[in-house]
Amino acid sequence: MTKKFLSVLNGNVEKTPPIWLMRQAGRYLPEYRETRKRAGGFLELCYNSDLSTEVTLQPIRRFNFDAAILFADILLIPHALGMNLWFETGEGPRLHGILDGFKIKDLKPPDEIHDTLDPIYQTVRNLSIDLPETTALIGFAGAPWTVATYMVFGKGSKDHKEVKKYLNENTEKFDQLIDIIKIATIEYLSSQIVAGAEVVKIFDSWAGSLSGTDILKYSYEPIYQISCELKKRHPSVPVIAFPRGVGGGYEMFSKIETISCLALDQSVPSTWAQKLQENVVIQGNMDPLLLVTGGEKLETEVIDILGNLASKPFVFNLGHGITPDADVNNVDKLIELIRK
Ligand code: CP3
Repeated sequence: MTKKFLSVLNGNVEKTPPIWLMRQAGRYLPEYRETRKRAGGFLELCYNSDLSTEVTLQPIRRFNFDAAILFADILLIPHALGMNLWFETGEGPRLHGILDGFKIKDLKPPDEIHDTLDPIYQTVRNLSIDLPETTALIGFAGAPWTVATYMVFGKGSKDHKEVKKYLNENTEKFDQLIDIIKIATIEYLSSQIVAGAEVVKIFDSWAGSLSGTDILKYSYEPIYQISCELKKRHPSVPVIAFPRGVGGGYEMFSKIETISCLALDQSVPSTWAQKLQENVVIQGNMDPLLLVTGGEKLETEVIDILGNLASKPFVFNLGHGITPDADVNNVDKLIELIRK
């Protein structure tokens, strides 16, 4: 049985494009909320291989997406490197970060992350057995810049002003941090592949906060280097990159030969994205809000994206994660529109 998602990542056009959604396992699903409660908390859920396997499978059972994404979080790497990590209900992640006094020299060596991350590899092994034979399995990690923003500031931020101030005033230390995350990320993704991940995705969710040459140094370069090393170790495994919010900068990312697929956020018009398809497979990029509001606009946007992008190898997805207030009926409708 061939997997449509893998076929398209290898450059083929299928009758209808494959579809999966960022954050497809999450709070918009009642069965996810129930399992999370059973686990006791979000981190407990991530490190419980049986329950993580279960929540990864939930959206597949309900919607039969063409790909499943491992249930975990990009902040497990800082946690495995020795930083305190916790999730404040309703507020998101918190780390005891560098601006709060954590010292980079106190991070564990990147090759010591596996003890902590072993349950994640077990989840991948479980999934490679439990998934339907037409569903591809995606592993993932955060890109060094996005992970570093949390490691420095200790939580999310709108414009990353404090992180950029830290990097301008402590460039050498910040570069050392990026290097540590980069090496740990290569090890982490490589281990996910060995455990059974068929594709890996690198999330640079905050790439759009960078400016000027820093986009090259802190988003483009680390993603490029990670993808090169993964290609060397696992030549047949496609790498998806998601440098969110880089606008015209997507063009240079589309030319990285070790990246099979470029994920676009919803700020990019699909007519503009067409030219990137000469270089790379495109994934994206419907506004997640349309799964909250639904209606005619959902339909016209889907038709527009498909009309502009689906005649070349293309993966349908959102421009960012599905939100907790998304309506599952709209997800059903979306899938029907894509597959009919
Ligand atoms: O279904 C999937 O996509 C797989 C699992 C997944 C999660 N996080 C689960 C999660 C993936 C791929 C991520 C990636 C992630 N985590 C990113 C990059 C993608 C993006 O959305 O930009 C980032 C920046 C993080 C860090 C993070 N984790 C934040 C900022 C938050 C809080 C915001 C929020 O949505 O609540 C989390 C928590 C988180 N990660 C949840 C889930 C399902 C919600 C936690 C809960 O159940 O309360």
